[in-house]
Amino acid sequence: MSAATTTQHDLQQRAKRVLAGGVSSNTRLLNPHLIVERARGCRLWDADGTEYLDYLLGQGPNFLGYAPPRVVEKIVAAQHDGIIYAATHRREIEAAERILAVLPWADQLRFGSSSSEMIQAAMRIARNATGRRSILRFHGHYHGWFDNIQIRSDGAQALPGSLGQIADALDPTVTIEWNDAEAFAATLAEHGDTIAAVVMEPMMLNAGAIVPAEGYLQHVRDLCSRAGIVLIFDETISGFRVSLGGAAELFGVTPDLAVYGKAMAAGWPCAALVGRHELFADVATGALTHAGTFNGNTIASAAVLASLDELEDRSVYRHVETVGSALIEALTALVDHHDVPIRFQGLPMAFHARFDSGAEPITRYPQLQAIDDRRYGRFANQLITSGIWVAYRGIWYVSAAHTIDDVDETVKRFDAALSEFTQG
Ligand SMILES: Cc1ncc(COP(=O)(O)O)c(C=O)c1O
Repeated sequence: MSAATTTQHDLQQRAKRVLAGGVSSNTRLLNPHLIVERARGCRLWDADGTEYLDYLLGQGPNFLGYAPPRVVEKIVAAQHDGIIYAATHRREIEAAERILAVLPWADQLRFGSSSSEMIQAAMRIARNATGRRSILRFHGHYHGWFDNIQIRSDGAQALPGSLGQIADALDPTVTIEWNDAEAFAATLAEHGDTIAAVVMEPMMLNAGAIVPAEGYLQHVRDLCSRAGIVLIFDETISGFRVSLGGAAELFGVTPDLAVYGKAMAAGWPCAALVGRHELFADVATGALTHAGTFNGNTIASAAVLASLDELEDRSVYRHVETVGSALIEALTALVDHHDVPIRFQGLPMAFHARFDSGAEPITRYPQLQAIDDRRYGRFANQLITSGIWVAYRGIWYVSAAHTIDDVDETVKRFDAALSEFTQG
């Protein structure tokens, strides 16, 4: 059957007529217009019945795999109790208690539906707490698509990331290079008394899966404390994934506020802003507005509780670490065998792949920018054709549902993709 006559092709055409660009989020424009019929565990099937091994996990949330049965059961039960009451409920309180129990540095939280909105709340709280205006942030880090935070980095400059976004909206942000302790100290020496908050991905996962240099996060922590600046970790990707307590736990450095989403609720839409008690004081009285119709609904709360039921004994992390490490090792051996310069770096649960003739891991964003990522983009297309669902931008996520058998199957499909790619 030619592509033009398949069910998937028909659905693509229908999607393009009614959804702008055929999708509901611009990040999905980057991948070909796969129309997914269903997903289970670490596999998904398109509308033509083709099966894919999935390393995209819906951009990260499906850390427990798709439709994990025990989680689904608890969500369904919650749904039968009604979803939103415009009032607090038992599951919401328990979800907050359980989250705070695994984040011992924090006292309180607020729930929301997306991390983009939680970042907004964090910045508002930091400005209120400090009476300052500026936000210090970093090239290559993503904190959502809103006017005051979306950037594209062009060399040393941060530019508005979208048409229709006014440049002035970025005015209160100062953007510098991450993982550079000297640049951080110099910026604080110059602007420290105007900076309300430093916001960062504590491990740079939106670009390159770069871990913080030894001592860097502590250096940032110390200088923020000294300058009275609120330190915000955006743990949207790293939270509940790189370890139960996220990057703060893994790297042993605590922020003042942190944003969680994705892996926290196993694919159901839920985000949280977590932090120290005193920072929430004006939120608690209502003087500082944080609101949202869907915040803390029963399904989201049940999803958090059900996820924590799976994650709390930490065996999931040991499993993902074993499988992810085996995958990185096997793929590295494969590309070395074929003498193809693909490099893998990061952690077993979230790593990055790129074409790069250099052998050393990348530690800074400009090194990543210097690499032509179009070649990997073309290869990702070949991987998808060979039955491995991956992101064009190079990030690979491993879930609790992946097994060593899946690694073996992935290596076979990757090998086939390499042969096609290098011959093509
Ligand atoms: C680090 C980080 N922050 C914020 C966001 C925005 O999250 P959401 O899409 O839930 O608004 C994302 C999304 O990928 C992210 O990776």
